[in-house]
Amino acid sequence: MSKHNFNSGPSILPQEVLEQASTAIIDFNKIGLSILEIGHRTNWFVDVMEEARALVKELMQLNEQYEVLFLHGGATTQFMQIPMNLLANTESAAYCDNGIWGSKAIKEASLFGNVQVVASSKDKNYTYINKGFDIPESNKYLHLTSNNTVEGTQWHHFPETNVPLVVDMSSDIFSRQINFNQFSLIYAGAQKNMGAAGVTLVVINKNMVEKISKNIPAIMHYNNHIEAKSLLNTPPVFAVYVSLLTLRWIKKEGGLAEMQKRAEQKSALLYNTIDALPLFHSTIDKEDRSNMNAVFFIKDENLQNKFLEECKEHGMIGVKGYRTMGGIRVSMYNALQLASVEAITQLMKNFANKNG
Ligand SMILES: Cc1ncc(COP(=O)(O)O)c(C=O)c1O
Repeated sequence: MSKHNFNSGPSILPQEVLEQASTAIIDFNKIGLSILEIGHRTNWFVDVMEEARALVKELMQLNEQYEVLFLHGGATTQFMQIPMNLLANTESAAYCDNGIWGSKAIKEASLFGNVQVVASSKDKNYTYINKGFDIPESNKYLHLTSNNTVEGTQWHHFPETNVPLVVDMSSDIFSRQINFNQFSLIYAGAQKNMGAAGVTLVVINKNMVEKISKNIPAIMHYNNHIEAKSLLNTPPVFAVYVSLLTLRWIKKEGGLAEMQKRAEQKSALLYNTIDALPLFHSTIDKEDRSNMNAVFFIKDENLQNKFLEECKEHGMIGVKGYRTMGGIRVSMYNALQLASVEAITQLMKNFANKNG
């Protein structure tokens, strides 16, 4: 049975990316060596890294002020690398607390400087995104999570402020066309919309790094990575290559405008189905619903388990909500076909007919 992969991450990748990646493990670019066997300073790999960095800039339409890095350590390392670089211990940074990942970022930043939580939706279980809050200009930056993977909310409009915006885009990177030049730093673990686990994208405006004056470990210093063109130490060679293949696929399919169109189509189908069936309900404010991760519930817990069982029987993978949230989570990343959302919405309708 073919699978419908709704995993939240690591998650579905385009079939052709998987095929190209598997070919490269045996014979990379017909050079008679595996991608796993070549040095990271060879022209072969430098070309991979440079094409990947250039494609990020092209897809995001970034101006010349931006540097693109592929680093180790996942988005979690950025939770500390950002304040380590950008925040002296007497300085203050503003943070938005809209979910489990943002609150982890706050905890880490508190180790390096003062954290001012300027917005939080914890009062209502993170079911909405704050609007119209004050951001004191004394802050070095404002950090927010553009898509809350666990809770199922997404920022559809970003704060307009003179304070530099630092954004964790781990779960909606390359899923929509926005003005990326409004952000001072963007980061994302690759394992959802842009490739395999093991590499993290960091896009940084050079005016942020000019201000880094502190003595910090060499491997943590953004300037060192920029100077080394993202080859400061051995990068996760294969993960960078899978990102390159995924970026090429996004471009070939029509770029971010096309990814956005598909995401809106898929999520509209799913949310319309949830709203039309009284058995299912979403607790998220409608205007803040995520186009990547739909989180919803069935009122009766026994029925919830039964629904998850039926999903399994129909080859629908990764539908169980995050362990602290419960419920159902359907992730609809770029590579997920509309047909998979059609399949699960049909199953929801049949299930509601039988159990409603
Ligand atoms: C929004 C967000 N931020 C951070 C993380 C943590 O990423 P990593 O496991 O790459 O450290 C995740 C993981 O799912 C995430 O969804």
